[in-house]
Amino acid sequence: MLDLIVLAFWLMLPAYIANPAAALFGGGTPVDMGRKFIDGKRWLGDGKTYRGLLIGTVCGMLVGIAQIVLAPYIAPHLAGIVNPEQLTTWTTIAAVTMPFGALLGDMIKSFFKRRIGYERGAMLPVADQLDFVAGAWVLTYIVAPGWIVSNFTLGVILTVIIITPILHVATNVVGFKLGKKDVPW
Ligand code: CTP
Ligand code: MG
Repeated sequence: MLDLIVLAFWLMLPAYIANPAAALFGGGTPVDMGRKFIDGKRWLGDGKTYRGLLIGTVCGMLVGIAQIVLAPYIAPHLAGIVNPEQLTTWTTIAAVTMPFGALLGDMIKSFFKRRIGYERGAMLPVADQLDFVAGAWVLTYIVAPGWIVSNFTLGVILTVIIITPILHVATNVVGFKLGKKDVPW
């Protein structure tokens, strides 16, 4: 089981980095430019900004590239836990689409949150935790289906679905305590 957790974490790390990086460094012009949808509510709200999207993607990408570079050094140390070859599959394309897709998924979720009348920052369980997993997988599947299929076996997928909400809640509580998030979710 530990092998699945290590592998899931390794494969999701650039996507996981995107959200906290957006929260830490985001702000400024909102992606919807303040515009309202036909229901009179914002398209996305002030919580989705260009800077968050850009910096979140770049930070995730840099982590993915670091994983490509460092895999040969890290993999041998984890050989007792996972098959080292499974840690050397990162590609530059996936290092971009995983974090960017994560933040696209997060924006799509915000669009639907606004439509059902949830204000910026309101909690929407499950969607808040898994939006970015879905976004990362869907975008990467469109661009590099082979990478998704060969890396995300059923065991890895289930592990991601279980560990992500736990990690998400933990990081958000830390972000809240550090004063970087208005609410602990
Ligand atoms: N953020 C950003 N740009 C993004 C995503 C996030 O600037 N594309 C920043 C915003 O400051 C946001 C914070 O990260 O408030 C936390 O992100 P998130 O929890 O996804 O946004 P919420 O404010 O909760 O908004 P929503 O209700 O739309 O999810
Ligand atoms: Mg939120």
